[in-house]
Amino acid sequence: MLLDIARFVFTPCPGHVRAMGYLSEQIAIKNRFDRVKDAWKPHLDRTKKLILDAARLCPQRRKAVLFGSGMLLDIPLDKLCEMFQEVILVDVVHPPFKGFFHRNLTKVAWDVTGTAQAVYHVADHPNKELPLSNPDRFCDDPEIDLVASVNLLSQLPYIPCTYMVARKNRPDPIITAFGKQLIQAHVEYLKRLPGVVALICDLKRRTLDRNGKLLESLDALYGVELPWKGEEWIWDLAPRPEASPEFSYQRLVAGIANIKSLVW
Ligand SMILES: C[S@@+](CC[C@H](N)C(=O)[O-])C[C@H]1O[C@@H](n2cnc3c(N)ncnc32)[C@H](O)[C@@H]1O
Repeated sequence: MLLDIARFVFTPCPGHVRAMGYLSEQIAIKNRFDRVKDAWKPHLDRTKKLILDAARLCPQRRKAVLFGSGMLLDIPLDKLCEMFQEVILVDVVHPPFKGFFHRNLTKVAWDVTGTAQAVYHVADHPNKELPLSNPDRFCDDPEIDLVASVNLLSQLPYIPCTYMVARKNRPDPIITAFGKQLIQAHVEYLKRLPGVVALICDLKRRTLDRNGKLLESLDALYGVELPWKGEEWIWDLAPRPEASPEFSYQRLVAGIANIKSLVW
């Protein structure tokens, strides 16, 4: 608890990032990991392996860019820093001391949708239009040899949509359409980025009963269909009783080592 307060107070980030809940959500992810790390291990290992598979596909190893690096639970940071001249971690907020000793590591605090700050400003004004996401940062950097979007895609709408729903001043379909556009824009963005581009993301949100019977499997991507297919695995996100005494929650995850070599 004290550590959480310290993290919340001392992690540097812009006011809107803190106010909208990005920082608290990142702290909550770390806390859940601490409670159920054995259940998460196969997923974290698969994610790290897929990123390294993608890294080995790169003919040159100058810059690697990782989106959604967060607490670095699923990033093989040491190996990437050995393999690449520069490793660039991108997240809306970074834990301050992680990766401190890697000299070729750069942390970029950036909202990959480019919309969070605008949402923060228009959320209380339902007559103002919601922003459209159309990111292009890094697209014209020819030295980027690897990009990985790491367990981020389904998370993009989560904070901004929750923030707007809580205000109860916009119709749900408008907020849902906004969330879908964030996902679609990230998929289009990945296509425009240079180098080998890897994507690891949730596809389905699954609920199981206490006997392990699958009760529900919901689309995690707001109806956006990925134009690529890769490996699939289950992430035991919240095994009973982590989030409920009755139910366990899982994610069906897709891992694609290079979106440019795979088309459905
Ligand atoms: C489920 S976590 C991914 C796990 C993370 N790689 C780790 O090891 O902790 C999603 C991450 O995406 C970040 N994130 C969410 N929305 C973002 C945005 N719009 N731009 C950049 N990062 C974002 C969160 O801060 C969080 O660190």
